[in-house]
This record gives sequence, structure tokens and C-alpha cells, in this order.
Amino acid sequence: MPAMTIKNIVVLVSGRGSNLQALLFSATNERWEIEPGARIAAVISDRDDAEALGVARAHGIPVHVVSHAEPTSRVALEASLSQVIDGYAPALVVLAGFMRVLTPQFVRRYLGRLINIHPSLLPSFPGLNTHQRALQAGVRIHGATVHFVSAEVDAGAIIAQAAVPVFADDDEASLAARVLQQEHRLLPRVVRRVLEGRVQLSQQRAVLRDVARDELSLLVS
Ligand code: GRF
Repeated sequence: MPAMTIKNIVVLVSGRGSNLQALLFSATNERWEIEPGARIAAVISDRDDAEALGVARAHGIPVHVVSHAEPTSRVALEASLSQVIDGYAPALVVLAGFMRVLTPQFVRRYLGRLINIHPSLLPSFPGLNTHQRALQAGVRIHGATVHFVSAEVDAGAIIAQAAVPVFADDDEASLAARVLQQEHRLLPRVVRRVLEGRVQLSQQRAVLRDVARDELSLLVS
């Protein structure tokens, strides 16, 4: 029998690591469904104090911190990043709370196998402080998006979205928590389908094949 090829996933983080955790275990603590065909081969952080590194270490996943103490160019940092990433020949690179803007050159290198999770219903509220801005704007529906990364920040082809209601008594924390819960459902689904080749980037759109109609469109009431 031919040996099964394990698909490597590399996850880039900067902070807490709850989406990384969600990738490792489903919300109900079952084993992640895509195993054993894929594995998180490495977690890379641009900060040595990222809690996400602890999450990775607790699961025995190799961690790398790619940072430069002195101010350095984005290109130099990305060269170091690419070197580490490419060492794992990943099928997929996941930005799970990675707080750096990437150059077009870096994005091009991983085009079609680089995804990001963003805490808003894009194209609304790209960038930072999405929950606060959603409350200020008075939207009644908010949510999260997983998209292929393109050169423009938070503007790549949308793969999946989860929508949640915004309630009159919400504050930033309550809204963020509601969205985050859905992020944790959304990201593992997307990773699985991309690795299966059922989600592909084609002419700047995410094309789905044999994916149940509501699987990547979550509506939570
Ligand atoms: C998430 O809200 C994600 O959408 C955004 O950064 C946050 C990361 O949270 N890009 P965590 O580190 O996964 O807990």
C-alpha cells in the first residue's frame, strides 16, 4: 500500500491562540475531523510572548518565533518567515490572529494556500477594532470571515462567513465573544475543505465543489 502523504499545515499567530486551539480540537473536544490526513506541523509567532505558543507546545507542536528586536524591514522579516514556513512544505498556511500586514511578494508566494480569519463580515470593517466599529455603526448583524489572502489587507476571496446578531445591550466584549464562538466553528471547516481541494482560488474568487450549501455560510440567531 502506498504511504499516505500527510499534508502539513503551518499556523501563524501573534496572540491568544483560541483559533489555533479550535483547529486542534472541535468545540466539543472531539478529535479534529481531518486527522490523520493532515497535521499542524508548526506554529510560528512574531512575538515570543504570544499565548498561542503555549497552546502549540501543550500539543507537542514545534514552535518558532520569527521576530527582530531591532527595527527591520518587512521584507527581511518575511524572508525569515518564508524560510521557516517553506521548511515544512505546507499545503496550507493559516493566519490565525497574525497581526502583521504582508507584502504582495509574500502573498504571491503562497497564493491559494494562504488563508486568514477576520472578525467581521467582510467587506465591512476590514482592519482593527472591528467589534467596536460595528457597534458604533449600529449594524444589527456582525460576524466573521475566512478568506484567501490577497495583497490588499482583508480583501481576498471570501471562503466562508458566520453571521451573528448584534443586540441592543451588547458591548465590545459580549459581541466579540459571540463572534469568536463562530470563528472557532468556521475555521476548522474551511481548513478541512481547502485541504480536500474542495475550495480553490480561481480568478480571485473562492470556488466551492461538493460542499454542503450551508456548511460555509453560518447563520446564528
Ligand atoms: C481573532 O478574532 C481573529 O479573527 C483575528 O484575531 C483574533 C485572534 O484570536 N484575526 P486568537 O488568537 O485565535 O484567540
